[in-house]
Amino acid sequence: MPTKPLTIAVLGATGMVGSRVITEAGSRGYNVLALSRKPVGDDGHVTPVPVDAHDPQALREALTGSAGLPVPDAVVVAVRTEPVDPAFLVEATRTVLDIAAELKIHVLVVGGAGALHSPGTPGLLVADDLAYVPEQLRPVAAAGVAQLRAGQAHHHADWVYLSPPALLGPGARTGHYRRGTDTLLTAGDGRSWISAEDFAVAVVDELESPGSDRHVTVVHRDEPTVA
Ligand SMILES: NC(=O)c1ccc[n+]([C@@H]2O[C@H](COP(=O)([O-])OP(=O)(O)OC[C@H]3O[C@@H](n4cnc5c(N)ncnc54)[C@H](OP(=O)(O)O)[C@@H]3O)[C@@H](O)[C@H]2O)c1
Repeated sequence: MPTKPLTIAVLGATGMVGSRVITEAGSRGYNVLALSRKPVGDDGHVTPVPVDAHDPQALREALTGSAGLPVPDAVVVAVRTEPVDPAFLVEATRTVLDIAAELKIHVLVVGGAGALHSPGTPGLLVADDLAYVPEQLRPVAAAGVAQLRAGQAHHHADWVYLSPPALLGPGARTGHYRRGTDTLLTAGDGRSWISAEDFAVAVVDELESPGSDRHVTVVHRDEPTVA
């Protein structure tokens, strides 16, 4: 656990994942730099920082304190475009890793389930497994794999790629989840899923206690039954 409140930069602050990470971080008393093109509200813990991740210089100014902002302890990358733009995803991730390497700060990339290994089929990625990814979603899954490879090829060592399970959507915060590394997990009900709220819990837990695994995943876990 950190000895002082963290300052966390969230790139993709207005998104499904980013907005929940901000709520979770705020509930733990942490400060957030909320980076996105559209500004988010300022509630004291949250500083909105309008930035277009296509602009490396703007990202640099947002993260290095040159815009009068605090330098964050960690950056969460949670961007997504519609339609998928693999080149943008990879370049924005590389830019954040470049800056983080200079600042010696931690990076958590919210990636895709496609970058995980398919359970029961060694060597097969979920992105290439039609049981999980239909043909029309393969470009999205492949972009997530490219984003992971960009991290693996980067010289900055202090980063983690957090893959959601197959299904990630708005839901309830239970505070429970099961953690794994680079293979897709399924919950007790047989589905590979987690609520975005519990996913955000896992994101902030990873930021509080970074481990040595570069690729991790989480899945919904039922609350332990109290006897
Ligand atoms: N099962 C799965 O594998 C699964 C499921 C869902 C999500 N995900 C992953 O989770 C991550 C987050 O997804 P999400 O669902 O939270 O996405 P989302 O709701 O679509 O939000 C996307 C975020 O990206 C930001 N963004 C897009 N282009 C930007 C730019 N040029 N500059 C700055 N910010 C930009 C948007 O902000 P503005 O538009 O306000 O700038 C928004 O905050 C993605 O990597 C996605 O692939 C994985």
